[in-house]
Amino acid sequence: MAAKKAVKKTENMEQNTPKKQLTIGLLTSGGDAPGMNAAIRAIVRVGIAKGCRMIGIKRGYAGLLSEEFIEMDVTTVCDTIQTGGTILQTARCPEFLTEEGEDHGAKICQKHGLDALIVIGGDGSFRGARTLAKRGVNVIGIPGTIDLDIPCTEYSIGFDTAINTAMDAIDKIRDTSSSHERCSIIEVMGRNAGYIALYCGIANGAEDILLPEFYDGNEQAIINNIITNRKRGKTHHIIVNAEGIGHSNQLAKTIEAATGIETRATILGYLQRGGRPTCTDRVHASTMGALAVDVIIEGKKNRIIALQKGKYVDLDIEEALDMKKDISKYQYEISRLLSV
Ligand code: ADP
Ligand code: F6P
Repeated sequence: MAAKKAVKKTENMEQNTPKKQLTIGLLTSGGDAPGMNAAIRAIVRVGIAKGCRMIGIKRGYAGLLSEEFIEMDVTTVCDTIQTGGTILQTARCPEFLTEEGEDHGAKICQKHGLDALIVIGGDGSFRGARTLAKRGVNVIGIPGTIDLDIPCTEYSIGFDTAINTAMDAIDKIRDTSSSHERCSIIEVMGRNAGYIALYCGIANGAEDILLPEFYDGNEQAIINNIITNRKRGKTHHIIVNAEGIGHSNQLAKTIEAATGIETRATILGYLQRGGRPTCTDRVHASTMGALAVDVIIEGKKNRIIALQKGKYVDLDIEEALDMKKDISKYQYEISRLLSV
């Protein structure tokens, strides 16, 4: 009995020992994406609720190097869940691509006593995070890019808003394209990946979708398709072209010269990166943000938060950065049948 009591006392003493307060830094990096604010909000609120000190770092790695650190609390993130952009601002930082920059970044994290740094960004930002991990900083990545091109995850924050914004714009272009019996080329973002183009191509019923992953450069095939569709009685011809292929204005000239059909190119550009995040983006961002904090509190190191087989997971950063994913050839192939 006496021994049991003694054990109980020890357990209670351990429970009462105050744990060291964790200091968590967070930044957004690379291209902004709608929903980044929802992720920031979740990180800050869950972190504060669990007793952590939360430090926002402005302008991505650029702000890390220039020590633009701000204390964050539950009120700093009020009224942000519905907003596009990033309240922490973001940047591309060439200095961080150098060894000196990376060393300097790691030293600054140590100087400010960061127990972990959460990086919300794309594949490039994760590669930057890995260089900090190699220098002893505990980094946690949250996928945030409209491009959906991060191999380790099925979802990245901003994609759903971007495709819905682009889809609405393409619907509008289709109206005027039909009225004027024109061919329209709409170029969407995605860097070297065709996810935005594939989704919009299917959702907008495009007659042609040009993806960097599959396009063979055969302009004559596009021209033939336009002529065939015109003979079938189609009044418009929508081509969704991915940024990774580009040259939309040049392609418009080539098509017009070959077919005699007026052809216009529209490059949708940055409007795809802005605007109120959709429900899907807010929910993924809030969940991934919360999970990033929980992973740190659990004592895990150097993880990437991801969606795999529909489940939220955390992956080792080295393994995550080595992963590959493919765009769906099946969806690409059926899109041709759907638009006949
Ligand atoms: P994204 O994160 O959206 O893919 P970038 O590729 O532009 O955007 O990366 C954002 C920033 O991350 C870069 O400006 C740079 O500071 C840093 N970064 C990118 N790649 C690397 C790398 N290989 N090593 C170190 N830092 C990197
Ligand atoms: O990564 C998001 C993205 O919008 C890409 O689709 C595009 O290639 C790139 O960023 C544009 O970057 P910047 O804002 O530097 O022009």
